Amino acid sequence: MAGFSSSPWAAGTALPGVPALHEDLTTEVCVVGAGIAGLATAARIAAEGLSVVVLDRVGIGAGETGRTTAHLTCALDARFRRLERFHGPEGARRAAASHAAAIEMIAAQTARAPEECWFEWVDGYLFDPEGGDADALHEEAEAARRAGLDVEELAAPPLPFATGRCLRFPRQAQVHALRLLEALAAQVRGGRGRIFRAEATEFEDGEPATVRTSEGLRVRARSLVIATDTPINNRFAIHTKQASSRTYAIAFPPPAGFPRGLFWDTLEPYHYVRRARVGPDPGGEVLMVGGEDHRTGEAEDADARYERLEAWARDRIGGLGRVTHRWSGQVQEPVDGLAFIGRNPGDGHVYVATGFSGNGITHGTLAGVLLADLVLGRPNDWASVYEPGRISLRAAPSFLRENVKTAGHYAELASGGDVEDEEQIARGQGAIVRRGLRKVAVYRDPSGELHERSAHCTHLGCVVAWNGAERTWDCPCHGSRFDVDGNVVHGPAVAPLAAVDDPKPDPRPVPA
Ligand SMILES: Cc1cc2nc3c(=O)[nH]c(=O)nc-3n(C[C@H](O)[C@H](O)[C@H](O)COP(=O)(O)OP(=O)(O)OC[C@H]3O[C@@H](n4cnc5c(N)ncnc54)[C@H](O)[C@@H]3O)c2cc1C
Ligand code: FES
Repeated sequence: MAGFSSSPWAAGTALPGVPALHEDLTTEVCVVGAGIAGLATAARIAAEGLSVVVLDRVGIGAGETGRTTAHLTCALDARFRRLERFHGPEGARRAAASHAAAIEMIAAQTARAPEECWFEWVDGYLFDPEGGDADALHEEAEAARRAGLDVEELAAPPLPFATGRCLRFPRQAQVHALRLLEALAAQVRGGRGRIFRAEATEFEDGEPATVRTSEGLRVRARSLVIATDTPINNRFAIHTKQASSRTYAIAFPPPAGFPRGLFWDTLEPYHYVRRARVGPDPGGEVLMVGGEDHRTGEAEDADARYERLEAWARDRIGGLGRVTHRWSGQVQEPVDGLAFIGRNPGDGHVYVATGFSGNGITHGTLAGVLLADLVLGRPNDWASVYEPGRISLRAAPSFLRENVKTAGHYAELASGGDVEDEEQIARGQGAIVRRGLRKVAVYRDPSGELHERSAHCTHLGCVVAWNGAERTWDCPCHGSRFDVDGNVVHGPAVAPLAAVDDPKPDPRPVPA
């Protein structure tokens, strides 16, 4: 993945490699994706004594879990006033309880190797910026209490800059997410589990359920779990109920005396700041600042976003050195605030885990428990709130808003290109060029050579957009991403962008 931005954790961590899959296999459970959701599920299933095969296109932690900032909180991004509205008081309570349980599970998981996983209990502070709406914050505190959380209202968080009031949530945490994955992978391999490198491209429900790989190999399993951040096995069912967002983070050497804790503001999108351990001492800590989210494929101004994050930090925090890291990643935002974890709509033996929002490490961890229970036919109290087939009428306005935006991107098919012709594309840059009826994604590499692919996303046919910060082609409709040679970097697409001289017609746009 050379050329992509990298988090300080990923930059400093060599995870064990995984062998390529070379033969057809039969197993009790097959999990696709070796991020937090896939490995938490596989570890749980291995601990039950079942055989499990994990397939990952690249390797352990190669997806968004390698880019996470791993703050662990049950004070969910969706906020409890909203969760109560969408899921009722009982749903909000189950959401809070399941995330609190996930933090405890991560604590137990990492207790075996505390020095390596750098798990740390800290308080979490949701704060208003100066002049914020104190009434709204108080209402959020009340809703969080009704959901069963312990929350204290304070005049201000212990930050070295002026803010409005805040809520303090005790017993929140942070962790080195890749070390956590390493511990989970060891647990998988310690049981009847195996992890392989393979790209899954086709999925069939049945007895057995089958995954086919890009190399033409097959894995047959009694149950199949798709844990690829966004489901790559279904074209519509989930993708109309969530939107992909890009999110940005930067790191500095921590200024002396900066308090420990998770701090995030009430703006939308929010800013967060905290110090975190990323490597062995000395110099093993960073001060991290993040935010500036936007829907994937809808903005090409990453540099400006990094600069705004830096300005936000420098305006508030004295003694900051130079920025040491900057990176971005993708989160899946569900329209009703909670993940989709459970049986894939319409299937009998295929399960999905997606829609984790900015709470992916806890959502992924609780997915492990929930999916293991479903696979084993056991009841689970959390199943109803995370049911993937749910339709919340109260979330209809957000649902419509997101889908109107998606539909708007189909208009791109009829418009011109970003530039008249490829001569206007600078080295290291990409742009869309119209050639007759076809739109072409053209990238000029640093040596001047052109890389051209069809610009039509292989998921449902939207036109991709250039992401200059990551040098990828990103699809604004459901968040698929492709490298400059058209290979899939992120689903839901599973097929590469077509060659420009491919005689097959471009994928027909299918509004979803
Ligand atoms: C910058 C940033 C900050 C964040 N901060 C936080 C935070 O503070 N706290 C928090 O809880 N969450 C946070 N999140 C969210 C969280 O990181 C993610 O939601 C979570 O890591 C997603 O985990 P996952 O297992 O679902 O997906 P991933 O980690 O993306 O794993 C999916 C895996 O599937 C593999 N895969 C994909 N397609 C295929 C295929 N066709 N065949 C085989 N394998 C395939 C990929 O290679 C990948 O390894 C953050 C995210 C970002 C980007
Ligand atoms: S991701 Fe769905 S059309 Fe591109």
